[in-house]
Parts: sequence; structure tokens; C-alpha cells
Amino acid sequence: MSQKGDIGVIGLAVMGQNLILNMNDHGFKVVAYNRTTSKVDEFLQGAAKGTNIIGAYSLEDLAAKLEKPRKVMLMVRAGEVVDQFIDALLPHLEEGDIIIDGGNSNYPDTNRRVEALREKGIRFLGTGVSGGEEGARHGPSIMPGGNEEAWQFVKPILQGIAAKTEQGEPCCDWVGKDGAGHFVKMVHNGIEYGDMQLICEAYQFLKEGVGLSDDELEATFNEWRKTELDSYLIDITADILGYKDTDGTRLVDKILDTAGQKGTGKWTGINALDFGIPLTLITESVFARCVSSFKDQRVAASKLFSKTIGKVEGDKKVWIEAVRKALLASKIISYAQGFMLIREASENFNWNINYGNTALLWREGCIIRSRFLGNIRDAYETNPDLIFLGSDAYFKGILENAMGDWRKVVAKSIEVGIPMPCMASAITFLDGYTSARLPANLLQAQRDYFGAHTYERTDKPRGEFFHTNWTGRGGNTASTTYDV
Ligand code: 6PG
Repeated sequence: MSQKGDIGVIGLAVMGQNLILNMNDHGFKVVAYNRTTSKVDEFLQGAAKGTNIIGAYSLEDLAAKLEKPRKVMLMVRAGEVVDQFIDALLPHLEEGDIIIDGGNSNYPDTNRRVEALREKGIRFLGTGVSGGEEGARHGPSIMPGGNEEAWQFVKPILQGIAAKTEQGEPCCDWVGKDGAGHFVKMVHNGIEYGDMQLICEAYQFLKEGVGLSDDELEATFNEWRKTELDSYLIDITADILGYKDTDGTRLVDKILDTAGQKGTGKWTGINALDFGIPLTLITESVFARCVSSFKDQRVAASKLFSKTIGKVEGDKKVWIEAVRKALLASKIISYAQGFMLIREASENFNWNINYGNTALLWREGCIIRSRFLGNIRDAYETNPDLIFLGSDAYFKGILENAMGDWRKVVAKSIEVGIPMPCMASAITFLDGYTSARLPANLLQAQRDYFGAHTYERTDKPRGEFFHTNWTGRGGNTASTTYDV
């Protein structure tokens, strides 16, 4: 092995350290650097002791210790810090060197950086990395995009350290040019928000509505591990529900009910609006976090109507199964919407994203990893042009089978006063999406009535626009017809 490093990693916070250790395990020589250089020594004398990892104490030192073309991975906070490091690194790099941003950057920033650095001869990759501390250490899901020329050089390292499927396929492959990798990571996080909120809704319905005990709740989630819901998030939920505090009671009950968020779910929602994709479930999950953060307002408002939650009567086992089906069906809708957004962005930016491959990247290693993603991959392999996941035979079957219970659970939640924004939005979306006719005829009439915005007619070809002088007082001049 050469004396020089195969890759440099900047940022020795939890993700950076664990990725470095993972790279070292896979035989790559890593040069580690941190702005506060005392952290480099702490790392080398601590977790990295006895490994082949080398320390660097300045960016110049880092560059000097790397094999060319240099590969430098940034594991720093998204935003300005990334630009600061790029600027600071540039004087030490040469044409053909590669910078990899492994943080949760917003993809327009990645688009901009790829272009700006291309002009300077530097190849930039925006790479989503998912899986938290454990994933980084033992195999994350990695979603690289950006300057395609760089891929061949980093592929052995990134695929080497990535999680593998049961068949040994790496959960890391080229996503697309520009910010495609970060876009896919952003949607991954949005889906993560949706999955988590759906689980929370199921939990509240079963706990406060159906009245399951702590033990019954824990057992229920443990049972769900053996079903199509089998996933990392269901696993950790079962563990969390079983976790006891020092006094022997469940810790989860003592945790304040206000959710934080770092922005990727919000960006997913903003992009959905920008692209005109009805990403209703993920967007509701972001709003659910917002409502949860209004703790004081909620406490005050809870007294307004003496809010109490009604009892969900009936056989517990029957309700548990109904909630399981509602959760699974809602999850299908969330992924269907997420893939619609990815498709729209891919077509819009000419990214040529492979949807089946995207599901494969998420199959292991990441936070949303699940058995279900294997089925999504199969669906796209059967039909790469699949527009709506629910039209794939496997998923259609689940939706059909869940429909009655799903409606029952959502209806009951409204009756007893349990908020279920994501499950409700999922069934509402499906009802809208599967309606050959919606009441938008009336909406178009309203727009034309007050603003002469025109409408198309069912008895005329598409693309012909009409205006009616509804009151007899308006003119016959229509406004320009355009859609955003
Ligand atoms: C991952 C996660 C991670 C994300 C955290 C926090 O894929 O490993 O998505 O990237 O930053 O889960 O996200 P929020 O603070 O927004 O919940």
C-alpha cells in the first residue's frame, strides 16, 4: 500500500469519525483533519488508536498527505461551513482533485458548487449519507451525485464502505449529475419524517384510543417486525417502547412531546410545492412536528373545548390488525408520492435517476431501510416507467386488502379526537388520485366567474379555453391562460 492517503476526511464529529473507521476497516488509508486540531490527536489516541489512520494538522498538510487525484470528503455542517472549507481547500488542490460533500446539503447549493468548481478544474460530488452513527461505522446508505468524472475514483471507497443487501449489492451507486444525490437524500429524509409520524399516529391510536398497556404496545411493535412493516424504524420503536427509566417506568412517557427538525423534511415539502407534486403525507408530517412544537399554545388550547380522547371500543386484536394495515397502506402512499417527486425532479433536470436503484440504495444502511424497499425495487424492475407505485400488482393488492380497515381507523380517529394527519392525508390522496372526476369543474367556474380565468369543457377538445359572462355584467374579455 502506498504511504499516501487514499482519501481525506474533514470533520471529526460523530459521522466523520465513524466513516473514517469504516474506511480503515475496508483497507483504505484515511487522512483525518478537523478545524480544532486537538480533536485530531484525541481521535488518533482514542477510537483510531492502532489503525492506519493518519492525522493532518492543516489543510496544506492534508493535501500533501493525499494520493492524486486527491479525494477530500467534507463531513461538516451543511450550509456556509461547506463553502468556507471549499474556499480554504482550493489553494491546496490541483486540477482533477475531488471534493465530496457528505453532509445534508440543500441540492441547489450542490448544483451551484458542482458548476463553480468545474470551472476551476475541481470535481465536486454532493453525496447523501444515511444511517446515523451505526450506519456510518458499519455500512451506511450512500447517494452520490455531481461531477460524473469523479465517480470512478471514489466508487471503490464509497461502495466498499456502504451497507450491502443480502445478495451482496452495495447500497451506494451513482444517482445522477449536479445535486441529484442530495435531492434523493432529501426525499429519503422526507420519507423518514413520514414513516416516523405514521408510527407515532399508530402508537397514539393504540395507546390512548384502544387503551393498550405498555407491555401490549411493545409486543405489538415486536409482532409487526415479522410482517411487511419490518423496518429499522419499527425495530427501534419496539426497543424504545420497552425501554425502562431508572424508576422502572417507560422512559418514552417522560419525554417532552415537542419534535425538533433540521430542515430536510421542510425542503422536501417546499420542493413538492415548487414542482407541483402532491406530496401530502410528508408535508403533513412536517406540519405535525410544527404543531407539536407549540407546546404552550397546545396546553392553553386544550382547555378551550375541554379536549379529551374518546375510547375506541371493540376487540383490541381486531383494532391492532386494522391499524397495522392502515399504517402499511399509508406508507405505500408516502413512498408513491416520494417517487413522484423524484421522477419530476429527474425529468426536469435531466438527471436520469433510476428509480429501482434508488430503492436499492435505501434497502439497507439508511434510516428508512426496510423489507418493503425490496418490493419497491422489484416494482420498478418490472416496470421502469411506473408512475404510481400503487398500480404495481404487489402494492395494489396491499392497498385493496387494507382499504376497509384503513377507512375504519381514520374515521374512528376523527370520531374519538386523535389527530392522524398522515394516515388521513394518505387515504384522502388515494381517493382523489383514483377519482376520474373531481369537483374542480366548480373551481374552474369560480375562477372564471370572478377573474375570467377561463375553463376547458368536457364536450370540447383539451386545450380550448372558454370564458362565460356569468352575471351578464362582465365583459367578454378572458384573462390570459397560464399555469404555474
Ligand atoms: C439519516 C438522517 C439524518 C438526519 C437526522 C435528523 O439519514 O441518517 O436522515 O440525515 O439528519 O435524522 O433529522 P431531523 O433533525 O430533521 O429529524
